[in-house]
Amino acid sequence: MIISLVKASQTFNDCDLLVLPISAKGIKANKPELSIGALDKRLAGTLSREIALFEFKAQLHRPLLVQCGLPGFPRNVLLIGWEGAPRSGYNAQLALRKLGNIVFEQAKSRRAKRVLVQVADLQMQDPSRLQAFCEGLLLSSYCFTKYKTDKKVFELQSVGLLSPRKIAVNAIQRAEVVSRAVSSARDFVNMPAVDCTPPFLVAEARRIAKEQKLGIKVCGRSELRKMKADLMLSVFDGSNEEPSLIRLHYKPRGKAKRKVALVGKGVTFDTGGLCIKSGPGMYEMKQDMAGAAAVLTAIEAIAKLKVPVEVIGFCPVTENMINTLATKPGNVVRALNGKTVEILNTDAEGRLILGDALVLAEKEQCSCIIDLATLTGSVANFLGSEYSGLFASDDGLAEKLLRAAQTASERLVRLPLAPEYRDRLKSPIAELKNIGGAEAGGILGALFLSEFVEKTPWAHIDIAGPAYIDSDRGFNRKGATGVGVRTILQFLQS
Ligand code: BES
Ligand code: ZN
Ligand code: ZN
Repeated sequence: MIISLVKASQTFNDCDLLVLPISAKGIKANKPELSIGALDKRLAGTLSREIALFEFKAQLHRPLLVQCGLPGFPRNVLLIGWEGAPRSGYNAQLALRKLGNIVFEQAKSRRAKRVLVQVADLQMQDPSRLQAFCEGLLLSSYCFTKYKTDKKVFELQSVGLLSPRKIAVNAIQRAEVVSRAVSSARDFVNMPAVDCTPPFLVAEARRIAKEQKLGIKVCGRSELRKMKADLMLSVFDGSNEEPSLIRLHYKPRGKAKRKVALVGKGVTFDTGGLCIKSGPGMYEMKQDMAGAAAVLTAIEAIAKLKVPVEVIGFCPVTENMINTLATKPGNVVRALNGKTVEILNTDAEGRLILGDALVLAEKEQCSCIIDLATLTGSVANFLGSEYSGLFASDDGLAEKLLRAAQTASERLVRLPLAPEYRDRLKSPIAELKNIGGAEAGGILGALFLSEFVEKTPWAHIDIAGPAYIDSDRGFNRKGATGVGVRTILQFLQS
């Protein structure tokens, strides 16, 4: 899909569909905004007549198709009622992403390949609004066809944005880079675990490093053994597919404004280990590397966007499987920070690999550490598939992440790192145990992780709910969503 700017004076040749978003205010006054008023005049009042005749309302999902017979004018004009007026709780970026999604869906259902959208009234001078609209279009066009023999899908070839005012073209490019990052995160997660293995993710990280000229270091079992990363190895040992710890390093050209560490859970398949999951609990566990997918693709985008922030990404990639070396429940291992952990449940494996990764991340002396992980069923059950859970040791960092998520149209809510429950992770024979009872599982997972960060402001985002969804929803497709990528990119750019 090519999105470009089109001057309002240009002709309407080569256009299958002209889309006119109309705000609620314009409809109420029976006086569509100026830009549409001019088109209406050219059409001798056809648009305002149809608006009145069909009691057209500002409802995204009930657009109105008007056919025009005027020579030199597109035959199909689509009016989309758009709630454009600010009210309390109104989120312009979300409204524009939804509008982008509706434009895509309408073009698709009408097989319109070349579309023009009148954006004169959408205040696209604000680059974050333009970016949001373009992302709505681009994210909607995602389709995972890797395993389909017939890969033919509808392709929206071009979207021209009609605007008399100058708008920032680089916001379009930014939307393209962000959407490509989200799409490749979705691809990684959608791939079955036989193909998206730890070595596959390592190869992808190496490709990204080569293309974007990033630093990369991959530690295998033997090196991790020398480092005594035994908490991480306790999960790695059960994996027949070669596990690794990936460290990806982006350093901007000029002086970096700050240095941020990202950590992503990369369990390419979670059987639960010897504490094996039941069938229904296991069958979607190829998604358990969604955190690592988000970290790798976000860093790729950061490099493309030349963001002036130094970023170091850590992704432990492994399977959580069963073989003769797999950790037995009850085993005690020592983490990189010296703490001993009694592993009572091998299905609480994410916190084990992340624990050691967080210790390494803190050694980098960053201004903050953010981890993304499909960590607990508890947060997924409680928040459902629309919201991710945010746990943070630092209020300022939490605020910034919540704001970034809002701008990026990803839903994030803060949950407590409740100190009251800390004792539940105490082991009678070691410093910690990796589970602490059935209640508040998401909080316990976060509390466990907090034991591995000493003083750097740290945030943990539990994406177990939204990482993988069971039906199409707006600009998200059934399956992987690429959640986290947009929030991280927004956070690093603001
Ligand atoms: N990968 C799972 C969490 C998960 C659940 C991700 C649903 C995506 C969707 C994680 O490793 C896990 O199994 N967690 C256990 C922890 C428990 C044993 C303390 C859980 O949440 O049930
Ligand atoms: Zn698990
Ligand atoms: Zn897991």
